Amino acid sequence: MDEARLNDFMGKLVNDMGGAAMLANVILGEELGLYRAMADSQFITPETLAAKTGCNPRLLREWLSAHAASGYMEHRDGQFRLPEEQAMALANEDSPVYVAGGISVVASFFHDKDKLVNAMRGNGALAWGDHHPCMFSGTERFFRPGYKAHLIAEWLPALDGVVAKLEAGAKVADIGCGHGASTVIMAQAFPDSSFVGFDYHAPSVTVATLRAEEGGVSSRARFFQGNAKSYPGSDYDLICYFDCLHDMGDPVGAAKHAYESLKDDGTVLLVEPYANDSLDDNVNPIGRLFYAASTFICTPNSLSQEVGLGLGAQAGEARLRKVFSEAGFSHFRRATETPFNLILEARK
Ligand SMILES: C[S@@+](CC[C@H](N)C(=O)[O-])C[C@H]1O[C@@H](n2cnc3c(N)ncnc32)[C@H](O)[C@@H]1O
Repeated sequence: MDEARLNDFMGKLVNDMGGAAMLANVILGEELGLYRAMADSQFITPETLAAKTGCNPRLLREWLSAHAASGYMEHRDGQFRLPEEQAMALANEDSPVYVAGGISVVASFFHDKDKLVNAMRGNGALAWGDHHPCMFSGTERFFRPGYKAHLIAEWLPALDGVVAKLEAGAKVADIGCGHGASTVIMAQAFPDSSFVGFDYHAPSVTVATLRAEEGGVSSRARFFQGNAKSYPGSDYDLICYFDCLHDMGDPVGAAKHAYESLKDDGTVLLVEPYANDSLDDNVNPIGRLFYAASTFICTPNSLSQEVGLGLGAQAGEARLRKVFSEAGFSHFRRATETPFNLILEARK
């Protein structure tokens, strides 16, 4: 037994326990509007924050002290300040690095722990719709900032000839659209194109329809309950999968259906969590987050469906290329990437 290694590992675990406890505090701050009340990055006392937010001053002092101890806030003479950089991640929902809203995905792991115990002891299946509701809203809020920052500005332009088609008027399907964040963003940017989102989870389709109305695009972005292997239409210019193909039981079957539903010169946009091709190369903070989430969400969802391939959220480009080649596509390439996503293009 190497005592130094033990101490290192205990330090890591205590750090992780503190991190998990802090995430619960972040969810509290987000829901109560505490970060938004501190978004001006000025020093504030617990009492003034209590007056601004209607919260208990003694509990706020404890919450603020936890943030100071975590390096999330600065403190001085009993006052606390949320620095501008932290405000971008925690207070400003329009910022490209806003994470506070998506942290409820992590909360869902704890809510769903008993269901995972059963899945682990059984066939591994836990369907998307059987998760705690905070997983659905958390997923939308986790992914939307990245789509807003990159989809129109970088990802679509990285595809061969797609932006010109969207500007002229194209027909687009967004498969596994969830709450429709990606669909609405594209519909807002390309008023002459028409967009249809399909998801097999009916409550998500209802929320997506509402999001299109809120976003002023309900005339050109419509949503339907539908499975990735059987949705209607055979003349799409663009078929998209945003962070969902690996969640499906039969990704090859889904890609085959996309092949049949695309025009001959159509394009598949496949957005997947960033991953290298081997576990050794995914031993990093992003790989850690996605493998952990995939244990609770993506892999059990895939195992709950026909075929149950169980790609997992760290499939990597080589494995995804194989899916599209088995489905009949001849062209497959990495169009671009971000620290969180691989952006892949498939063509017939
Ligand atoms: C991780 S979420 C991504 C949602 C959305 N694309 C986004 O980026 O916010 C995965 C989505 O895939 C959907 N899904 C999983 N399997 C499906 C299938 N076989 N057919 C259609 N949708 C499916 C789930 O219901 C869920 O909404």
